[in-house]
Amino acid sequence: MTELRFDDYVVVVTGAGGGLGRAHALTFGSRGAKVVVNDLGGGFNGDGSPKRSMADEVVKEIQKAGGTAVADYNNVIDGDNIIATAVEHFGTVHILVNNAGILRDVSFRNMKDKDWDLLQQVHMSGTFKTSRAAWPLMQKQRFGRIVNTASGAGTYGNFGQTNYCAAKAAIIGFTFALAEEGAQYNINANVLTPIAASRLTQTVMAPDLLAKLDPGFVAPIVPVLAHKTSTDTGRLFELGGGCITRFRWERSQGIEISAYANPLELLENWQNISDFSKPRYVRPVTSIVDSSTLPSAEKTANGLCEGKVAVVV
Ligand code: NAI
Repeated sequence: MTELRFDDYVVVVTGAGGGLGRAHALTFGSRGAKVVVNDLGGGFNGDGSPKRSMADEVVKEIQKAGGTAVADYNNVIDGDNIIATAVEHFGTVHILVNNAGILRDVSFRNMKDKDWDLLQQVHMSGTFKTSRAAWPLMQKQRFGRIVNTASGAGTYGNFGQTNYCAAKAAIIGFTFALAEEGAQYNINANVLTPIAASRLTQTVMAPDLLAKLDPGFVAPIVPVLAHKTSTDTGRLFELGGGCITRFRWERSQGIEISAYANPLELLENWQNISDFSKPRYVRPVTSIVDSSTLPSAEKTANGLCEGKVAVVV
């Protein structure tokens, strides 16, 4: 095999008129996929009149290179319409890349309802709407790949971006839940926290840094996760500028306590509660059980709280 191919696969990329979305659309277009290039074409902050030319230009690029693509100009808030475009032109959707996004940076004290609401709508509701519309198609064909776009702002927090951080963190939890629900239907869901030069980052990063952040450093992972051979699901990847890593949560050493323990007991042990010197790594939560019933390997993995009612991970 010399490259991952997507012949006969229908791919929807939202916000594909520029930046990362364009890179994703071109990547799939050059590998045989039928691509729906969605872009509303508004301003970077969600204001400004929609422009069809953004999606049109990328469609032209794909077609010129011999690929197949159609433009879609819907707002992701009306995500059902984007999936309807895929069905109308290509009959279904196999791969959904939720990428559209805007920024409305402002310090928390000065954040207006619109700054908050619009961010949640475009990022979170947009991701929800397209995914929900694609889901029954994916379930029926017993194949689906969803790649969502979060941000380091969602994993670390960032000044002036409470709206964006909240929306992006929500997308991570949403993706993990989709992965749980999709498993029995061969629907994989993964999430990226990328960094790349784009219209969005031009507003917050210096030109010398942007010069090192070609979106082409982010694009190659999406076909890997979207391919029929991929078994990765419920995973978060942090990438950009020539480096790709997986990202996961870790637990501190922690302590055991009794119900309604004296809070002072916690304070006295605060160092242990916060001790990450021997981190414990977690897998997705599967159930809450009496851990005394667990096989010993699981008990060891849980370590602390053996014999207690514990979340099994
Ligand atoms: P970009 O501004 O170049 O691309 C976003 C695209 O989404 C634009 O073409 C825009 O017209 C489109 N869009 C915006 N609102 C839309 C809506 N309601 N419906 C349909 N299309 C809409 O920015 P970039 O950087 O390529 O962003 C892509 C995604 O990556 C976004 O979700 C962003 O939050 C995320 N991201 C980007 C980072 C970076 O370093 N560039 C860092 C972390 C996350």
